[in-house]
Amino acid sequence: MFLTFEGIDGSGKSTQARLLAETLRAEGRDVVLTREPGGSPGAEEIRKLLVSGDPDRWSPETEILLFTAARRDHLEKTILPALAAGRIVVSDRFADSTRVYQGAALADLRGLVDRLHAEVIGREPDLTFVIDMPPDKALARGLARRSGEDRFEDMGGAFQERLRAGFRALAAEAPGRVRLIDGDRAADAVAEDIRAALAAVLA
Ligand code: TMP
Repeated sequence: MFLTFEGIDGSGKSTQARLLAETLRAEGRDVVLTREPGGSPGAEEIRKLLVSGDPDRWSPETEILLFTAARRDHLEKTILPALAAGRIVVSDRFADSTRVYQGAALADLRGLVDRLHAEVIGREPDLTFVIDMPPDKALARGLARRSGEDRFEDMGGAFQERLRAGFRALAAEAPGRVRLIDGDRAADAVAEDIRAALAAVLA
């Protein structure tokens, strides 16, 4: 099973991905917890080019190519081998991030994102959790971390508002696969909802 977490910067999705992986492991399941951009040595190299530096360092088109190159390597080296071995893959971000960040919020390039995805990725998660959060709270949390990976946070509050709208639209577009989770609550309450949604799908 291939599960992904999505949301705006600082939404708490990385915490939720980790909590779900821990819960599944405690139940005796074999889980690979991974992330994008990154998740394989080559894709982690590409990540460095994408998450730091000037906000206008790349054009949206170049960014789509870099994220897609990183995703292809992640898919080949990490995701597909793990799924073939019967493991559960939990990824902190995947293709929906490109659909929303580069395809809708940063530029109107969803057509290009979709064509490239069909050509070189061609794989959707079985289930995706979008952690929905008000951008002001999420941005404060994201920037407070001062991770040195703040290129997208530095694009500002209006950008994060467009991202939130994009993720909500995506959940409406693919209701079977994408579940919208209210992330503006204690982490354990959010985690409980996610576990319940997954249990319903597994049943
Ligand atoms: P992270 O903070 O969740 O590790 O993600 C790094 C940044 O990269 C985040 O601001 C979202 C952005 N991103 C895109 O713009 N497009 C993508 O396809 C992915 C995977 C991430």
